Amino acid sequence: MIFLDLGYQPFANEYLKNKFQKEKKYRLLIDFNKKNKIISIKKKFLSEKIFKNNYPYRSSISKTMRKSFKNLSIIIKKKFKKKKILEIGCNDGVFLENFNRKNTLGIEPCKNIAKLSKAKNISVISDYWTKKLSRDIKKKFGKFDLIFSANTITHIKNLDEVFSAVNHVLDEDGVFIIQDPSLLELIKNNAYDQFYNEHIYVFSYLSLSSILKNHDFEIFHIENISDHGGSLRYYIKKKNSNFKITKSVKDQKKLEINFGLQNFSTYKKFSSNVKYSREKLIKLFNKIKSKNQKIIGYGATAKAVTVLNYCKINNDLINYFVDTTPEKQGKFMPGVKIPVIKYSKLSRKKVDYAFLGAWNFKSEIIKKEKSFLSNKGKFITHIPFPKIVT
Ligand code: TYD
Repeated sequence: MIFLDLGYQPFANEYLKNKFQKEKKYRLLIDFNKKNKIISIKKKFLSEKIFKNNYPYRSSISKTMRKSFKNLSIIIKKKFKKKKILEIGCNDGVFLENFNRKNTLGIEPCKNIAKLSKAKNISVISDYWTKKLSRDIKKKFGKFDLIFSANTITHIKNLDEVFSAVNHVLDEDGVFIIQDPSLLELIKNNAYDQFYNEHIYVFSYLSLSSILKNHDFEIFHIENISDHGGSLRYYIKKKNSNFKITKSVKDQKKLEINFGLQNFSTYKKFSSNVKYSREKLIKLFNKIKSKNQKIIGYGATAKAVTVLNYCKINNDLINYFVDTTPEKQGKFMPGVKIPVIKYSKLSRKKVDYAFLGAWNFKSEIIKKEKSFLSNKGKFITHIPFPKIVT
């Protein structure tokens, strides 16, 4: 059942080399599956169409994420004492770099990004996560006692294949940890920009537990973490293994049911909040522009691509985006064709307002741009509703 239409959108991480480059667009419709409660985008692309060898996203680009993965590695070492670790979607090695290289293996299909992990002496297989790959891995390396995956499983169309491949290489007493944006937090924050071509699914406890049941898996612990504007970290075991199921699982279930994540009406309400957010953001931009003030973008995120294209905010309203990622600099934001330039500290002399594309790193950014703010520079955020941050 479709509840939200975010219009025609380009592929989010495909930054344009020039303004005239042709782009494919698709209609971004968001669907609620009444049966298993899963939220997904209607048009689901295969990984091969998205994760190629010039992928621009680097996980270790923010201090916040480096710290978060380091903290998790400490928890894993202390709590589970698991040694042989496999990561699905290891990106530039921001998680695995915290472990002894001898017993770790990363999977990263984008060869340019896999290279960054390899440069840290991490063993990486550059391929997509499939049943076939899991069989090859088991033959070559045996089973693993910990499998981790952050912000990756929700990017893969065929979840049944994903989970049966994990089942194949996970030890009977192994732990499978995944973390992804939390649907409950997304709805509460009105963060509709979490929807784009890569984010095929947004998990909740309700939907994930329903899918895992079919694969002999069970969630035994859940943590609410602040990553990416509010994520859930699920600790999963094989059904017959002995991990105790903690109260956190029941608590999360209760939170989601009390909020109404099982009801279509919740999503209809969210949808009207999204429309309201769009109107408000457009008004805010136009008001600032009518005073001839200059707005730039901060963080050329995939999320911003959804917002800009949905709200039709283009180069007339935002002069340029700054971003620290080398792969994005010198290019243009998909669809709206706003230039992305190399980051340099914000200066009030050059900029009046900065639109927070990377709102999920708001505290890190505000700390960095203290002098901009104290010189009366202002940020614009659309989360949870469009407003000015001084
Ligand atoms: P992220 O929010 O993880 O992105 P996405 O929506 O694409 O999944 O990406 C953050 C982006 O913001 C990334 O391109 C790097 C950039 N960034 C900066 O330019 N400066 C900063 O201080 C931070 C924290 C991020």
